[in-house]
Amino acid sequence: MSTAASLSLAEKDQRYALHPFTNLSAHEQNGPFIISRGEGIYVFDEQDNRYIEGMSGLWCTSLGYNEKRLINAATRQLEKMPFTHMFTHRSNEPAIELSEKLVSIAPGDITRAFLVNSGSEAVDMAIKMVWFYHNAIGKPNKKKIISRKRAYHGVTIASGSLTGLPYVHDGFDLPAIPVIHTETPYLYRVGETDETEADFATRLAATLEADILAADPDTIGAFIAEPVMGAGGAIVPPETYFDKIQAVLKKYDILFIADEVICGFARTGNMWGSQTYNINPDIVTCAKQLSSSYLPIGAVLINQKLYDAFVTGSDQLGMFGSGNTYGGHPASAAVALETLNIYEERNIVQHVRDRSGRFGERIDALSNHSLVGHSRHVGLIGAIEIVKDKSTKEQYPVGDKTAAKVMAAAKNHGVIVRAVPGDGIAFCPPLIISDEQIDDMFDGIQAALDDVRRELS
Ligand SMILES: Cc1ncc(COP(=O)(O)O)c(C=O)c1O
Repeated sequence: MSTAASLSLAEKDQRYALHPFTNLSAHEQNGPFIISRGEGIYVFDEQDNRYIEGMSGLWCTSLGYNEKRLINAATRQLEKMPFTHMFTHRSNEPAIELSEKLVSIAPGDITRAFLVNSGSEAVDMAIKMVWFYHNAIGKPNKKKIISRKRAYHGVTIASGSLTGLPYVHDGFDLPAIPVIHTETPYLYRVGETDETEADFATRLAATLEADILAADPDTIGAFIAEPVMGAGGAIVPPETYFDKIQAVLKKYDILFIADEVICGFARTGNMWGSQTYNINPDIVTCAKQLSSSYLPIGAVLINQKLYDAFVTGSDQLGMFGSGNTYGGHPASAAVALETLNIYEERNIVQHVRDRSGRFGERIDALSNHSLVGHSRHVGLIGAIEIVKDKSTKEQYPVGDKTAAKVMAAAKNHGVIVRAVPGDGIAFCPPLIISDEQIDDMFDGIQAALDDVRRELS
């Protein structure tokens, strides 16, 4: 390697940076993929090669990469007041305006917003709220949380425990809080032969009920679900699933946390995934598209029932004793508020609905490819699953990393997508994408599948 003074940027990365969700020895060999700039739905590497960002970064840059209004909103706020906190009655203008706006657009019966910095922090706080709530109403045993296999809810000790993916638990001694992982609503893999979506949903609700009874309903505080599972594979639930799940939860007095960190803000063709699937949550967690990720921010939204209990509990204990230095950061809040204004002015929900037809057609067309066993999508999120044999659904050996090969081939064709568990390829482009750009994106994916097909044969 070169001397420290003459290291390239990539070499410095390899020498000094420790990367999340990365095979560290492979990184030592291969180095980083450095993104230098962005424009609309495109990002450019150091050599100025252009890529369609088919994953919106990490399912988050909804308004693309050069939205001037967000840059101006941050700059204005930083010049006026770069930092105030929300502890001990302190507040600031953008955080107040954003809380009001979030409550006004929130799904169901939400009445309050608590601002945080990320999705994991939002989920962690939601769990603390479930615990605080049950202590305050005199049901201190209701502390277990039900999550689902293949769920992704973050990486902190609590949110990582709720995540239902082994690679998040392994080596970190998770789960470390009381959690039950119920079955995942993935019809293609978990469904029985000839089972309809509705029958599958009925069976999943019965499994949930059996899990609740086995764990003792009086010890279960909440159920958490992404309306569409994101990092676990962009898994779209079967029809009637959430209706049947909610009926079971109601029967056993279990709170519903809708984790809208990916689905929130139009991704599924409604402002919230909860609206797409008729969910009436007690708690909503959101982040990512809340600010189009121009600055870090997340929120936990709660209904009045929880808020009233928090008031009582905080009186008894002296305070509601939780918060983060940057929760309600004025610059992040100003950017989030501007993001929500842009969504409203440009009717982003309608734009997603208008684009979702072309997006869905192109994903479904991929399932004609000999490598693709299954496709799924809603709004502007979707995935395919790579299989070795379409008729038996047999997969390639895990070690072959076939989906990772497709992802690498797509990059050669100027498209960034993501390999997800179970040899899936996920698609989640910026919401501002046009029909022509959707075509360009899937032309690249089609070519990538052809490349890998050739390589495998
Ligand atoms: C549904 C969901 N919840 C929580 C998180 C965690 O968010 P963050 O990475 O901001 O901590 C993610 C991240 O992808 C997510 O998809």
